[in-house]
Amino acid sequence: MSTARFPEGFLWGTATAAHQVEGGNHANDWWAWEQVPGRIKNGDRSDPACEHYERFASDFDLLRSLHQNAHRLSLEWSRIEPVPGEFSATALTHYRDVLQALRDRGMEPLVTLHHFTNPTWIVAAGGWEAAETAEYFARFAERVTDELAGLAKFWITINEPTVVAYQGYVHGDWPPGKRDFGAALRVVVTLLRGHWLAYERMKRRHPELQIGLAHHLRIFDPARWFAPQDRAVATAFNRVFNQTVLRSLRKGRLVFPLTRNGIASGPPQSQDFIGLNYYTRELVKFNHRYGAELFGQRVLVEPALRSDLTWELYPEGLYRTLMALRAEQLPIYVTENGIADRDDALRPEFLLTHIGAMHRAIQAGVPVRGYLHWTCFDNFEWAEGYSAKFGLIACDPVTQERRVRPSGRLYAEICGTNQLPATAELPPKAAQPSERAGPTDRR
Ligand code: FCB
Repeated sequence: MSTARFPEGFLWGTATAAHQVEGGNHANDWWAWEQVPGRIKNGDRSDPACEHYERFASDFDLLRSLHQNAHRLSLEWSRIEPVPGEFSATALTHYRDVLQALRDRGMEPLVTLHHFTNPTWIVAAGGWEAAETAEYFARFAERVTDELAGLAKFWITINEPTVVAYQGYVHGDWPPGKRDFGAALRVVVTLLRGHWLAYERMKRRHPELQIGLAHHLRIFDPARWFAPQDRAVATAFNRVFNQTVLRSLRKGRLVFPLTRNGIASGPPQSQDFIGLNYYTRELVKFNHRYGAELFGQRVLVEPALRSDLTWELYPEGLYRTLMALRAEQLPIYVTENGIADRDDALRPEFLLTHIGAMHRAIQAGVPVRGYLHWTCFDNFEWAEGYSAKFGLIACDPVTQERRVRPSGRLYAEICGTNQLPATAELPPKAAQPSERAGPTDRR
């Protein structure tokens, strides 16, 4: 039996976002959103989350004891710049301590500057629909890296621009709760402009930094392979959701359909690496009633293994996505990949099959350099509140007790040995699309 070993120096860790784990973030748009009944499942709120703001040192001890050598986290903009142009020394010192704590434990930090939340004052200034927000963001990025560049080499400007636009401006179940496709495109344009400005300024002042963006890429397959209209819808979804940002960044200018909604350009190459967030695939079916969503209805097809959020387990999609990303000719870090699985029934298999798929891609020549599982601790999962359990480690938001799940131990073995366990030769399971369709979840 061959062993699936990973390259020397491979980064193994977990990923979090400030608002989902810290607790006490009351000066951003998500906190305001959480106060409105009906918006978050069970009326949950992001305070206390995992109290990670206070507990970061012992949390990192635990992750290190599980052999993780890297950690992705985000900095909360509303803490660092609570009012425009005024930067909080207390918050900056805190994050300095956090990054130093990782370094002290031999864990490589990957730092995200924007992970969904916006300071309240940014929202008052028009949020990401307003062109000036790109400038505010770049000023924040510049200031933060001036303070902290010495402590972290890897920086991610923005997490998942298309998810920000889709959830907040098309689907409308995240702030600011709009349903306006034109606004969504404008938001992607401003996010891109923010990335370009931030990249240029950070790079000019700190050329040694490795700067990228975390792309949420999904597989979109036609629900019925024989139906040309389903194939057309899947192609359109792939183009708009997966390709628009990547292609714009590659060219240093906006591509269609963004060209209809704004003007922006940047340097021809503004990613030193690709951050990939991969979770699942979606099967799409043409439906003329779905005009607001490119005429695509997402459908559930049986049989398939599914997470608690009904997301299909589709490890082959990670392989397909990585193979497609090879064309970018950049190092790749899997910056998120994980599963909502309260009982930890599927997570071990999820880990083995997805990490196996990543290994196959590496064997085929894709330059994957690290894997950051989403996530270490059960946390505040946006509109799902605490109901969706993504953690390798269970975390009770009331008692704050942390309990390593069996999958957490399995992942520790992989991290510690830099290889898949020898017995773990699970073939990827690919569910065959059929015509039995049902409603899909909200994301
Ligand atoms: C990703 C987000 C992350 C988390 C996971 C489940 O899209 O970046 O914050 O919500 O999904």
